Amino acid sequence: MKTQRLTSSRRDIAHAADLLRGGKLVAFPTETVYGLGADVTNDQAVSRIYSVKNRPSFNPLIVHVYVKNAAVDFVEFNPAAELLADRFWPGPLTLLLPQKKSAHISQRVASQSSTVGIRVPSHPVAQSLLQAFGGAVAAPSANLSGCLSPTTVEHVLSGLSNRIDAVVDGGPCRVGIESTIIGFKDNRAIIVRHGGIALDTLEAALNADLTANEKLPASIAPGQLPRHYAPDCPLRINARERRSGEVYLGFGSQDGDRNLSPNGNLTEASSHLFAELHALNSLGKPIAVAPIPNQGLGIAINDRLKRASAPKTE
Ligand code: TXA
Ligand code: MG
Repeated sequence: MKTQRLTSSRRDIAHAADLLRGGKLVAFPTETVYGLGADVTNDQAVSRIYSVKNRPSFNPLIVHVYVKNAAVDFVEFNPAAELLADRFWPGPLTLLLPQKKSAHISQRVASQSSTVGIRVPSHPVAQSLLQAFGGAVAAPSANLSGCLSPTTVEHVLSGLSNRIDAVVDGGPCRVGIESTIIGFKDNRAIIVRHGGIALDTLEAALNADLTANEKLPASIAPGQLPRHYAPDCPLRINARERRSGEVYLGFGSQDGDRNLSPNGNLTEASSHLFAELHALNSLGKPIAVAPIPNQGLGIAINDRLKRASAPKTE
């Protein structure tokens, strides 16, 4: 199969929506990372997402809808979830909520999870595609499981070329790291994955401390694997200097071969994180990354870097 490369023109978006209706896999831009989309109602299409990504079958997929009013067809909201959705959608926030009995979703989307992950992306191309399609789209990040996440069409094609039906080009992703995932225990919000909305911003919105994700059981966070988001080359984190043979990714005044943000801006650093790692990975040398302050979006960046640097298990 040859992967069709589509633009964000009206005609191409209509074609991409037709492909989704026909059970095909279409990668598309969101404000966080590129997603690999399939019709949520189509078992075969959803199953193909797992096979083309080599994704473990226990790892559920996020459902994407264009507006909160479409989300209520699929999941039961609680008051904290309502508040978060009203404040942060469309945007980089995923909510894990109980599936409605009436919801028409392939069982493979939630896998063995008792909840469904759902979000409303803000990227204009994701919005147009979801509206043209008229339904919900299941989409993990459009990369091979465990590898660096894709923030450009080139990244998508580097992993999935000729394994998926099409990719829609929406340019580089603005946020650059995945959505923050929030689950609920007794209707209280818990952070399952740090991401594009900083912890302190969420805590301010909820006027509460959010329980940290460190000790969540696999039943709540099946996808939080120790090694993930990883380049092929070894990665060393919190590196204060470059060792011989390494390429060095700097931050702020800690400069290197490349710099995530010369001004030490964490929003800029998140936006460039995966693109820089893809670029350095292609040089084929071990990568060292400067310390990133563990605050604001730095918490999500450090989460990605820590997993990217974890040893391979096989
Ligand atoms: O920003 C994002 O969230 C991107 C874009 C494409 O929307 N998507 C994304 O999907 O990052 P993925 O599959 O790469 O990561 C989704 C994470 C996985 O760790 C998965 O385990 C978790 O979300 N997840 C999805 N549904 C879940 C559920 N029902 N229960 C628990 N975890 C869930
Ligand atoms: Mg992913």
